[in-house]
Amino acid sequence: MPDMLANLLILPDLQPHLNALSEQGVVIRRANVFEISQVRSFIQNNFATSWADEVLVGFSNKPVTVYIAIRDGEVIGFGAYECTRRAYFGPTGVTERERGKGIGKALLLACMHGLRDLGYVYGIIGGAGPIEFYSGALGAIVIPGSEPGIYADRLKRRTEPDD
Ligand SMILES: CC(C)(COP(=O)(O)OP(=O)(O)OC[C@H]1O[C@@H](n2cnc3c(N)ncnc32)[C@H](O)[C@@H]1OP(=O)(O)O)[C@@H](O)C(=O)NCCC(=O)NCCS
Repeated sequence: MPDMLANLLILPDLQPHLNALSEQGVVIRRANVFEISQVRSFIQNNFATSWADEVLVGFSNKPVTVYIAIRDGEVIGFGAYECTRRAYFGPTGVTERERGKGIGKALLLACMHGLRDLGYVYGIIGGAGPIEFYSGALGAIVIPGSEPGIYADRLKRRTEPDD
């Protein structure tokens, strides 16, 4: 999976996306450090242990560089930045039953605005899976020669616990 580059100077506004989700009962906000265990369990149970590990770094940043999506007091999605490397976005994920409602895009935009607030002009989507999601939401482009990038020489996956 290649890395992608997004121009942070031309980001779409975030607020309309937050407002639309709020009307559907979904809150997007920065995570708090007292929520580490809950967020970590969500990521581990729905995605991968390695993603939960990456996100832990974001909880050490101030402000915390992890956003979460919440419905009825439960985490239903997350997005993180400035974790895996500087200026990196990711990982991110939305629980399956909540996909296709604009939650992933709102999390992405919140994180990209966060990167811009840190002073970056370009954001890097590390090891981008759904390339069309990022090109559609942000006009991000694939970085030539970026594969395998930092994901070279990976450790073997373990079966227990996953990843
Ligand atoms: C990728 C992911 C976060 C998207 O979340 P989502 O809440 O379903 O996305 P949204 O509803 O905000 O979609 C926004 C737009 O992207 C499009 N889109 C969403 N997922 C897409 C995908 N996998 N491929 C291409 N386009 C996609 C939607 O159709 C929508 O388009 P529109 O604005 O034209 O209507 C979610 O599918 C997910 O958790 N996937 C598994 C984990 C993953 O792959 N994470 C990324 C690792 S780099």
